[in-house]
Amino acid sequence: MNDHNSRSGGARAPGGRLERRADTDPSADAPSAPGISPLHGRREAWSGRFSEPVADFVLHYTASVGFDRRLAQADIDGSLAHAAMLAQVGVLSTQDLQAIERGLAVVRGEIERGEFAWRVDLEDVHLNIEARLTELVGAPGKRLHTGRSRNDQVATDLRLYLRGQIDLTLGQVQRLQRALVELASEHTGTIMPGLTHLQVAQPIVFGHHLLAYVEMLERDAERLRQTRGRVNQLPLGAAALAGTSYPIDREAVARSLGFEAVSRNSMDAVSDRDFVIEFCAAAAIAMVHLSRLSEELILWASPQFGFIDLPDRFTTGSSIMPQKRNPDVPELARGKTGRVVGSLVGLLMMVKGQPLAYNKDNQEDKEALFDAVDTLRDTLHAFAELVPGIVVHREAMRQAARRGFATATDLADYLVRRGVAFRDAHEAVGRAVRRAAALACDLGELPIEELRAFAPQVEADVLSALSLEGSVAARDHLGGTAPAQVARQVAFWRARLPGPA
Ligand code: ARG
Repeated sequence: MNDHNSRSGGARAPGGRLERRADTDPSADAPSAPGISPLHGRREAWSGRFSEPVADFVLHYTASVGFDRRLAQADIDGSLAHAAMLAQVGVLSTQDLQAIERGLAVVRGEIERGEFAWRVDLEDVHLNIEARLTELVGAPGKRLHTGRSRNDQVATDLRLYLRGQIDLTLGQVQRLQRALVELASEHTGTIMPGLTHLQVAQPIVFGHHLLAYVEMLERDAERLRQTRGRVNQLPLGAAALAGTSYPIDREAVARSLGFEAVSRNSMDAVSDRDFVIEFCAAAAIAMVHLSRLSEELILWASPQFGFIDLPDRFTTGSSIMPQKRNPDVPELARGKTGRVVGSLVGLLMMVKGQPLAYNKDNQEDKEALFDAVDTLRDTLHAFAELVPGIVVHREAMRQAARRGFATATDLADYLVRRGVAFRDAHEAVGRAVRRAAALACDLGELPIEELRAFAPQVEADVLSALSLEGSVAARDHLGGTAPAQVARQVAFWRARLPGPA
């Protein structure tokens, strides 16, 4: 959307003009063109009186049109449904409705083409569109606001907008899930160290690790879908706060806008923003998940790990250190998580303690929401593009698993199967690990005689228990890291996630 374009040849001042601060605007002393609304000719105002520059500041301070333009298409959709209903119940004439429909089609086109002259003196998207409609069609434009208030209008617009954004976001979540599943499908047998406390714990396969994120993203999607149901309720008809005396048909408006239900209480409908908070909570959790993936990609791509290379188009160099390949995209994603969490906290504080019903505080919902929507979607998009380009260094992963005595638990389990109590087995294996560490070898590389010195129950078949492959293959149950299980999970996700449209 073009923010500062003005319609040419009109009687109005250029659209961007009032968005400049009067005290810094060099053109402010220019004589007003004829036909401009009084607010445009404010020259005398600040030269003569002390209070007028404050009024100018207040105008800018209270205006939301700089950001709520994003709601323009939803605002027009809502107005069309409202007008059609008013005509249906006989409050508007058919001619009025036709004029409104014709005018709003023109307004929609002007906005889509970036030709609409947004005026900050008209405060917000709703008053801008209504004023332009009236300019285009005259009296019928002035009748559009019958039986409605900006309070129920903005709540309706925001819900329509957010519903659409949730659908787009869900599509991006699925894209990333699919990318992760496809990468996992190539690595159902790629062994790497599984870590706890960032220390080698037990061997796992890389595909299993990747599918953990697919699970997280699935819960993120579920939260968004559940939020959508609570977003998709019609507030229109609540009017300012108490409802309206016109014989409105709210069910008809809900049907035409695709809302699942009509709000049952007008005070609640205009004043609560819990649906925005809920979206931001879901977005914040999703971003926290993505920040974990970010951190792992950063670690894995570091020379110290050397597990993966990120695609070149996702890394940047250093202006001073020629060897650097910086993982900027995951780092930024990790950093941007704070913005979304900040939006969530800001919105909670915005609603906290507000008396019923509408208060202007609520205008502060939009920038936080828009930023959360953009940040989550951009981040999901970035990862969906990045993941297929990851180059995996299988041998480095395998070596890292070998180095960390990852199969120590397997040796303990082996001894338990031969009748040793787990605590005793744990103790014996701990001593064996110390010995292997002193010899700088893996447990599986200790001569069998050495192992027997710690645990006489050890037989020749211990080597398969101590092998990395034997270790992962043994965890062969739902949720385990055995390659066979991971392959089953890949199949599950492939069937569950629809292919790209
Ligand atoms: N721009 C306002 C908002 O975002 C619209 C509602 C204004 N209502 C009012 N009574 N001032 O919340």
